[in-house]
Amino acid sequence: MGRLDNKVAIITGGASGIGESMVELFSKEGAIVIAADINEAALEKVSQKENVYGMKLNVASEEDWQALAKEVNDRFGKIDILVNNAGISSEKPYEEINIDDWGKMMSINGFGPFAGMKHVAPYMAAQKRGSIVNISSYTAQIGQGFNHYSASKGAVRSVSRAAATTFGYQGVRVNTLFPGIIETPMTKSLETSKELLGRLVQATPLQRLGQPEDIANAALFLASDESSYINGAELVIDGGFSAQ
Ligand SMILES: NC(=O)c1ccc[n+]([C@@H]2O[C@H](COP(=O)([O-])OP(=O)(O)OC[C@H]3O[C@@H](n4cnc5c(N)ncnc54)[C@H](O)[C@@H]3O)[C@@H](O)[C@H]2O)c1
Repeated sequence: MGRLDNKVAIITGGASGIGESMVELFSKEGAIVIAADINEAALEKVSQKENVYGMKLNVASEEDWQALAKEVNDRFGKIDILVNNAGISSEKPYEEINIDDWGKMMSINGFGPFAGMKHVAPYMAAQKRGSIVNISSYTAQIGQGFNHYSASKGAVRSVSRAAATTFGYQGVRVNTLFPGIIETPMTKSLETSKELLGRLVQATPLQRLGQPEDIANAALFLASDESSYINGAELVIDGGFSAQ
Protein backbone atom coordinates (compact mmCIF):
# COMPACT_ATOMS: atom_id res chain seq x y z
CA MET A 1 0.00 0.00 0.00
CA GLY A 2 1.29 3.44 -0.90
CA ARG A 3 1.32 6.41 1.45
CA LEU A 4 -0.57 8.51 -1.13
CA ASP A 5 -2.96 5.91 -2.55
CA ASN A 6 -6.04 7.50 -4.22
CA LYS A 7 -4.64 11.03 -3.91
CA VAL A 8 -4.46 13.57 -6.74
CA ALA A 9 -1.39 15.82 -6.46
CA ILE A 10 -0.24 18.89 -8.38
CA ILE A 11 3.50 19.61 -8.17
CA THR A 12 4.73 22.83 -9.76
CA GLY A 13 8.22 22.95 -11.17
CA GLY A 14 7.82 19.19 -11.52
CA ALA A 15 10.06 18.91 -14.56
CA SER A 16 13.41 19.44 -12.81
CA GLY A 17 15.41 19.11 -9.60
CA ILE A 18 13.43 18.96 -6.34
CA GLY A 19 10.07 18.94 -8.15
CA GLU A 20 11.08 16.04 -10.39
CA SER A 21 12.15 14.05 -7.33
CA MET A 22 8.77 14.73 -5.70
CA VAL A 23 6.93 13.66 -8.86
CA GLU A 24 8.80 10.36 -8.82
CA LEU A 25 8.28 9.72 -5.08
CA PHE A 26 4.61 10.76 -4.96
CA SER A 27 3.73 8.56 -7.95
CA LYS A 28 5.66 5.65 -6.42
CA GLU A 29 3.53 6.12 -3.28
CA GLY A 30 0.33 5.71 -5.27
CA ALA A 31 -0.72 9.27 -6.19
CA ILE A 32 -1.90 10.50 -9.55
CA VAL A 33 0.61 13.29 -10.13
CA ILE A 34 0.25 16.37 -12.28
CA ALA A 35 3.72 17.73 -13.00
CA ALA A 36 3.05 21.38 -13.85
CA ASP A 37 5.88 23.38 -15.36
CA ILE A 38 6.65 26.14 -17.84
CA ASN A 39 9.31 23.99 -19.54
CA GLU A 40 7.32 21.82 -21.94
CA ALA A 41 10.31 19.93 -23.34
CA ALA A 42 11.42 18.84 -19.85
CA LEU A 43 7.81 17.93 -19.00
CA GLU A 44 7.73 15.36 -21.80
CA LYS A 45 10.45 13.39 -20.08
CA VAL A 46 8.80 13.27 -16.61
CA SER A 47 5.33 12.54 -17.92
CA GLN A 48 6.49 9.24 -19.39
CA LYS A 49 6.28 7.76 -15.89
CA GLU A 50 3.21 5.82 -14.81
CA ASN A 51 0.42 7.94 -13.30
CA VAL A 52 2.26 11.18 -14.12
CA TYR A 53 0.61 13.81 -16.32
CA GLY A 54 2.62 16.77 -17.56
CA MET A 55 0.69 20.04 -17.88
CA LYS A 56 2.02 23.41 -18.95
CA LEU A 57 1.72 26.14 -16.30
CA ASN A 58 3.25 29.55 -15.81
CA VAL A 59 2.84 29.99 -12.06
CA ALA A 60 2.89 33.77 -12.48
CA SER A 61 -0.28 33.65 -14.61
CA GLU A 62 -3.60 33.70 -12.81
CA GLU A 63 -5.36 32.52 -16.00
CA ASP A 64 -3.04 29.50 -16.21
CA TRP A 65 -3.80 28.57 -12.59
CA GLN A 66 -7.54 28.91 -13.07
CA ALA A 67 -7.45 26.67 -16.16
CA LEU A 68 -5.13 24.08 -14.62
CA ALA A 69 -7.10 23.71 -11.38
CA LYS A 70 -10.36 23.28 -13.31
CA GLU A 71 -8.85 20.81 -15.76
CA VAL A 72 -7.35 18.64 -13.01
CA ASN A 73 -10.58 18.66 -10.99
CA ASP A 74 -12.72 17.88 -14.08
CA ARG A 75 -10.42 15.10 -15.23
CA PHE A 76 -9.58 13.39 -11.92
CA GLY A 77 -12.62 14.39 -9.82
CA LYS A 78 -10.71 16.15 -7.01
CA ILE A 79 -7.45 17.72 -5.90
CA ASP A 80 -5.87 16.50 -2.65
CA ILE A 81 -2.34 17.88 -2.70
CA LEU A 82 -0.61 20.98 -4.06
CA VAL A 83 3.15 21.51 -3.82
CA ASN A 84 4.16 25.05 -4.77
CA ASN A 85 7.74 24.29 -5.74
CA ALA A 86 8.42 26.13 -9.04
CA GLY A 87 10.87 28.98 -8.71
CA ILE A 88 13.75 30.93 -10.12
CA SER A 89 16.92 32.15 -8.42
CA SER A 90 19.40 34.97 -8.89
CA GLU A 91 22.75 35.99 -7.49
CA LYS A 92 22.53 39.56 -8.84
CA PRO A 93 24.36 42.02 -6.56
CA TYR A 94 22.12 44.28 -4.48
CA GLU A 95 23.13 47.47 -6.30
CA GLU A 96 22.27 46.03 -9.75
CA ILE A 97 18.74 44.87 -8.96
CA ASN A 98 16.08 47.05 -10.59
CA ILE A 99 12.30 47.12 -10.43
CA ASP A 100 11.96 44.69 -13.36
CA ASP A 101 14.23 42.14 -11.65
CA TRP A 102 12.28 42.60 -8.43
CA GLY A 103 8.94 42.26 -10.22
CA LYS A 104 9.91 39.10 -12.10
CA MET A 105 11.27 37.43 -8.97
CA MET A 106 8.21 38.35 -6.93
CA SER A 107 5.71 37.33 -9.57
CA ILE A 108 7.16 33.82 -10.02
CA ASN A 109 8.39 33.01 -6.50
CA GLY A 110 5.86 35.04 -4.50
CA PHE A 111 2.67 35.48 -6.53
CA GLY A 112 3.02 31.92 -7.95
CA PRO A 113 2.37 30.09 -4.65
CA PHE A 114 -0.24 32.71 -3.64
CA ALA A 115 -2.19 32.25 -6.89
CA GLY A 116 -1.83 28.47 -6.67
CA MET A 117 -3.43 28.44 -3.24
CA LYS A 118 -6.10 30.92 -4.31
CA HIS A 119 -7.25 28.73 -7.22
CA VAL A 120 -6.65 25.22 -5.86
CA ALA A 121 -7.73 25.55 -2.20
CA PRO A 122 -11.45 26.01 -3.08
CA TYR A 123 -11.47 22.57 -4.77
CA MET A 124 -9.87 21.10 -1.62
CA ALA A 125 -12.29 22.98 0.62
CA ALA A 126 -15.19 21.46 -1.32
CA GLN A 127 -14.15 18.04 0.03
CA LYS A 128 -13.12 19.58 3.40
CA ARG A 129 -9.59 18.23 3.13
CA GLY A 130 -6.35 18.94 1.38
CA SER A 131 -2.67 19.51 1.94
CA ILE A 132 -0.58 22.33 0.51
CA VAL A 133 3.21 22.32 0.82
CA ASN A 134 5.06 25.51 -0.08
CA ILE A 135 8.77 25.58 -0.84
CA SER A 136 10.49 28.60 0.65
CA SER A 137 14.27 28.62 1.31
CA TYR A 138 16.71 28.92 4.19
CA THR A 139 17.54 32.31 2.64
CA ALA A 140 14.15 33.56 3.88
CA GLN A 141 15.60 33.32 7.37
CA ILE A 142 19.26 34.29 6.99
CA GLY A 143 21.12 36.62 4.61
CA GLN A 144 23.60 34.78 2.36
CA GLY A 145 23.58 37.53 -0.28
CA PHE A 146 20.63 36.32 -2.31
CA ASN A 147 18.85 39.70 -2.01
CA HIS A 148 15.56 39.79 -3.97
CA TYR A 149 15.47 35.97 -4.09
CA SER A 150 15.52 35.97 -0.27
CA ALA A 151 12.75 38.57 -0.23
CA SER A 152 10.58 36.44 -2.52
CA LYS A 153 11.09 33.42 -0.28
CA GLY A 154 10.19 35.57 2.74
CA ALA A 155 6.92 36.31 0.95
CA VAL A 156 6.31 32.56 0.63
CA ARG A 157 6.86 32.15 4.37
CA SER A 158 4.42 34.91 5.34
CA VAL A 159 1.70 34.06 2.85
CA SER A 160 1.89 30.40 3.93
CA ARG A 161 1.17 31.36 7.54
CA ALA A 162 -1.70 33.55 6.41
CA ALA A 163 -3.07 30.74 4.26
CA ALA A 164 -2.78 28.19 7.09
CA THR A 165 -5.00 30.38 9.24
CA THR A 166 -7.43 31.05 6.37
CA PHE A 167 -7.82 27.65 4.74
CA GLY A 168 -7.32 25.64 7.95
CA TYR A 169 -10.93 26.41 8.86
CA GLN A 170 -11.93 24.67 5.62
CA GLY A 171 -9.94 21.52 6.36
CA VAL A 172 -7.01 22.51 4.14
CA ARG A 173 -3.54 22.36 5.73
CA VAL A 174 -0.68 24.62 4.61
CA ASN A 175 2.91 23.92 5.62
CA THR A 176 6.28 25.24 4.48
CA LEU A 177 9.68 23.71 3.82
CA PHE A 178 12.92 25.70 3.97
CA PRO A 179 15.59 23.83 1.98
CA GLY A 180 19.26 24.63 2.40
CA ILE A 181 21.54 24.23 -0.58
CA ILE A 182 20.31 21.25 -2.58
CA GLU A 183 22.17 19.78 -5.57
CA THR A 184 19.88 20.52 -8.55
CA PRO A 185 20.20 22.23 -11.94
CA MET A 186 19.39 25.51 -10.10
CA THR A 187 22.44 25.34 -7.83
CA LYS A 188 24.65 23.97 -10.60
CA SER A 189 23.87 27.10 -12.62
CA LEU A 190 25.12 29.44 -9.89
CA GLU A 191 28.14 31.32 -11.18
CA THR A 192 29.92 31.22 -7.87
CA SER A 193 28.78 27.64 -7.36
CA LYS A 194 32.07 25.78 -6.86
CA GLU A 195 33.52 28.16 -4.32
CA LEU A 196 30.22 28.89 -2.55
CA LEU A 197 29.13 25.27 -2.44
CA GLY A 198 32.51 24.18 -1.04
CA ARG A 199 32.27 26.78 1.70
CA LEU A 200 28.72 25.77 2.51
CA VAL A 201 29.59 22.09 2.87
CA GLN A 202 32.39 22.99 5.26
CA ALA A 203 30.05 25.18 7.30
CA THR A 204 27.26 22.58 7.47
CA PRO A 205 27.21 20.34 10.56
CA LEU A 206 26.17 17.31 8.49
CA GLN A 207 29.09 18.04 6.08
CA ARG A 208 27.24 17.55 2.80
CA LEU A 209 24.90 19.31 0.42
CA GLY A 210 21.25 18.33 0.37
CA GLN A 211 19.81 16.05 -2.30
CA PRO A 212 16.39 16.53 -3.95
CA GLU A 213 15.15 13.39 -2.14
CA ASP A 214 15.82 15.07 1.24
CA ILE A 215 13.14 17.63 0.38
CA ALA A 216 10.83 15.18 -1.41
CA ASN A 217 10.69 12.89 1.65
CA ALA A 218 9.63 15.76 3.92
CA ALA A 219 7.06 16.95 1.36
CA LEU A 220 5.67 13.40 1.18
CA PHE A 221 5.09 13.34 4.95
CA LEU A 222 3.38 16.76 4.92
CA ALA A 223 1.29 15.82 1.88
CA SER A 224 0.12 12.52 3.38
CA ASP A 225 -2.52 11.88 6.06
CA GLU A 226 0.32 11.01 8.48
CA SER A 227 0.58 14.76 9.19
CA SER A 228 -3.17 15.38 9.50
CA TYR A 229 -2.83 17.70 12.56
CA ILE A 230 0.13 19.67 11.21
CA ASN A 231 -0.91 23.07 9.85
CA GLY A 232 1.11 26.28 9.64
CA ALA A 233 4.36 24.43 10.39
CA GLU A 234 7.80 25.42 9.13
CA LEU A 235 10.55 22.84 8.61
CA VAL A 236 14.15 23.76 7.83
CA ILE A 237 16.05 21.09 5.88
CA ASP A 238 19.64 22.30 5.67
CA GLY A 239 21.85 19.84 7.54
CA GLY A 240 21.90 22.18 10.53
CA PHE A 241 23.46 25.12 8.66
CA SER A 242 21.10 27.83 9.89
CA ALA A 243 20.89 26.43 13.42
CA GLN A 244 24.39 27.82 14.09
N1 LIG B 1 18.25 24.04 -5.07
C1 LIG B 1 18.37 24.69 -3.93
O1 LIG B 1 19.44 24.77 -3.34
C2 LIG B 1 17.16 25.33 -3.29
C3 LIG B 1 17.28 25.84 -1.99
C4 LIG B 1 16.19 26.44 -1.39
C5 LIG B 1 14.99 26.52 -2.08
N2 LIG B 1 14.91 26.02 -3.34
C6 LIG B 1 13.63 26.16 -4.04
O2 LIG B 1 13.18 24.88 -4.44
C7 LIG B 1 12.39 25.01 -5.63
C8 LIG B 1 12.90 24.06 -6.71
O3 LIG B 1 14.24 24.41 -7.03
P1 LIG B 1 15.23 23.46 -7.85
O4 LIG B 1 16.55 23.62 -7.22
O5 LIG B 1 14.65 22.11 -8.02
O6 LIG B 1 15.28 24.27 -9.22
P2 LIG B 1 15.24 23.81 -10.76
O7 LIG B 1 15.71 24.99 -11.52
O8 LIG B 1 15.95 22.52 -10.92
O9 LIG B 1 13.69 23.58 -11.02
C9 LIG B 1 12.76 24.65 -11.01
C10 LIG B 1 11.62 24.29 -11.93
O10 LIG B 1 10.68 25.37 -11.87
C11 LIG B 1 10.24 25.63 -13.22
N3 LIG B 1 9.77 27.00 -13.35
C12 LIG B 1 10.51 28.15 -13.34
N4 LIG B 1 9.71 29.21 -13.55
C13 LIG B 1 8.45 28.73 -13.70
C14 LIG B 1 7.19 29.34 -13.94
N5 LIG B 1 7.07 30.67 -14.11
N6 LIG B 1 6.10 28.55 -14.01
C15 LIG B 1 6.20 27.21 -13.88
N7 LIG B 1 7.38 26.57 -13.67
C16 LIG B 1 8.48 27.33 -13.57
C17 LIG B 1 11.47 25.35 -14.08
O11 LIG B 1 11.12 25.14 -15.44
C18 LIG B 1 12.05 24.12 -13.40
O12 LIG B 1 11.51 22.94 -13.94
C19 LIG B 1 12.48 26.49 -6.04
O13 LIG B 1 11.35 27.19 -5.54
C20 LIG B 1 13.72 26.96 -5.31
O14 LIG B 1 13.72 28.35 -5.07
C21 LIG B 1 15.95 25.43 -3.96
